[in-house]
Amino acid sequence: MTETTRNRFRAIAVFEGLDPKGFTTADLAANPLEAVQEWILAAAGAGQAEPHAMTLCTVGADGTPSSRVLLCKDIDGERLYFASHSDSRKGVELADNPRVAVQFHWPVVGRQLRLTGTATATDRAASEADFAERGRGSRLSAHLHRATAPGDREEVLAECRRLSDAHPQDIPCPPSWTLYGIVPSEVEFWEAGTDRVHTRVRCLRAAETLTGNGTSDDATPGDWYREYLWP
Ligand SMILES: Cc1cc2nc3c(=O)[nH]c(=O)nc-3n(C[C@H](O)[C@H](O)[C@H](O)COP(=O)(O)O)c2cc1C
Repeated sequence: MTETTRNRFRAIAVFEGLDPKGFTTADLAANPLEAVQEWILAAAGAGQAEPHAMTLCTVGADGTPSSRVLLCKDIDGERLYFASHSDSRKGVELADNPRVAVQFHWPVVGRQLRLTGTATATDRAASEADFAERGRGSRLSAHLHRATAPGDREEVLAECRRLSDAHPQDIPCPPSWTLYGIVPSEVEFWEAGTDRVHTRVRCLRAAETLTGNGTSDDATPGDWYREYLWP
């Protein structure tokens, strides 16, 4: 079985049909968050489904990491935003340890991006504004949340119908619904290259340690260094 699976996996095409041009540090906006936004929109333009979906990794109090896919709701000059319940596993872990890792993967353009940073809750008004922008189905489903409690499928569906009947118009924002903002300290841009000579550029905030060939002479805290990495 293992042999067959291995052969089948090996037969799956990787990085096919791409036209890698490579990118240089100069192609990335001075603020990496702006470049992240540009890469998401470029992936969307190339037909990538859900290009704003990202894997968020958190770490529990006992050091166990956990990950899940979330939608990036917005990006500004400082932060990258996502929304979820504060009493979910991720919410509980973030309250204890705000350090996170985030991963995007856009196979259509042969690109990935990862960042590490610190996630904190925004204020109530911002969380409620995020909730208000969700579609009715999304707002209803947010009320089906029961922290990490096991549930019964029929019970869930019945509760969904009950909620829909109880709230024919407005659906209130659950108190646990929270818009989080991630302030990155490191962002790495990656693009598949011809013959697997990939391009990697790492951006680090001035406060972080620079290990490679980036330029740092005139950087001030808050500025970003950027450096190429070996593929
Ligand atoms: C494409 C996609 C988008 C998702 N977006 C969100 C989201 O924006 N917020 C959220 O709380 N869960 C989202 N989920 C569900 C999460 O992956 C996860 O199952 C849920 O948040 C519970 O995570 P936790 O128990 O680790 O806290 C999404 C799942 C997928 C597959």
